[in-house]
Amino acid sequence: GRVAVLMGGTSSEREVSLDSGRNVLEALQSRGVDAFAVDGIPALVDAIRAGKVDRVFNILHGNKGGGEDGVLQGLLDALKVPYTGSGVLGSALSMDKIRTKQVWLSVGLPTPGYLRLGKGDDVHDAARKVGMPLIIKPSCEGSSVGISRVFDDAGLDDAVSLAARYPGELLMEQMVVGDELTVGILADGGGHVALPSIRIVPKGEWYDYNAKYVAEDTQYLCPGLDGAAEDEIRAIALAAFEAAGCNGWGRVDVMRDRASGAFFLLEVNTAPGMTSHSLVPKAAREVGADFEELCWRVLETSL
Ligand code: DAL
Ligand code: MG
Repeated sequence: GRVAVLMGGTSSEREVSLDSGRNVLEALQSRGVDAFAVDGIPALVDAIRAGKVDRVFNILHGNKGGGEDGVLQGLLDALKVPYTGSGVLGSALSMDKIRTKQVWLSVGLPTPGYLRLGKGDDVHDAARKVGMPLIIKPSCEGSSVGISRVFDDAGLDDAVSLAARYPGELLMEQMVVGDELTVGILADGGGHVALPSIRIVPKGEWYDYNAKYVAEDTQYLCPGLDGAAEDEIRAIALAAFEAAGCNGWGRVDVMRDRASGAFFLLEVNTAPGMTSHSLVPKAAREVGADFEELCWRVLETSL
């Protein structure tokens, strides 16, 4: 059947999604799939109404009806059009970092201490409770958009104004000092399997938007850890993915405290990047799945 590769859209991650989408489209076409590009949800609805779409490969990134937050998934459920990846619940929950943390904590999974910043909350007071250093981020963005690292009181107000430019709530989170790791998840039989972890070593201080998509000097180590630690991070990531009600495929971002070696879950991405800089493709390669094979396996999650 015909596969709409849904990309672009209107979120802050539009450019990243277009880049991911073009790669996916090319890979599916070279596998002989009758795939075509669609930019954004309104255009997808037109294509569906014109009877052109048998299934959707969703590679939209981002929130507010942007495609990764459950709105699209509900629409496609109602129209009975199959799609890749997580359904309504897993998508909506994972787009909201605060609620994701609440679910993880409720089942005993580790995530950094945090506060939700409401309108009118005293940020300095909140910072005393959370402790320095800390991170301020919009609860519902991706690709590190709107995130600041804060080391002292003087940095708080700017961090809050930056994050407040994006829709939704703000999250103040303890900064874990240590390694940034990520674990790709793929469907496997009736369940899921964790890919080898990737340890990200940015040339600058942290893995920000520039280090993610622009810089050519970010280093990626895969597998990111050895022995028991690697087993542990894969198990935690898989449990985190399933606890958040996700399915099909995704990527779980994790920090590892340098002093204690303990893991802390940050978030799940339900439509992770598929750019040439992105992480799931690197991890898949490590287990012998090239980019085309990866796209095929993701497409199969819509069957
Ligand atoms: N939100 C970006 C696309 C990622 O997680 O890869
Ligand atoms: Mg993300």
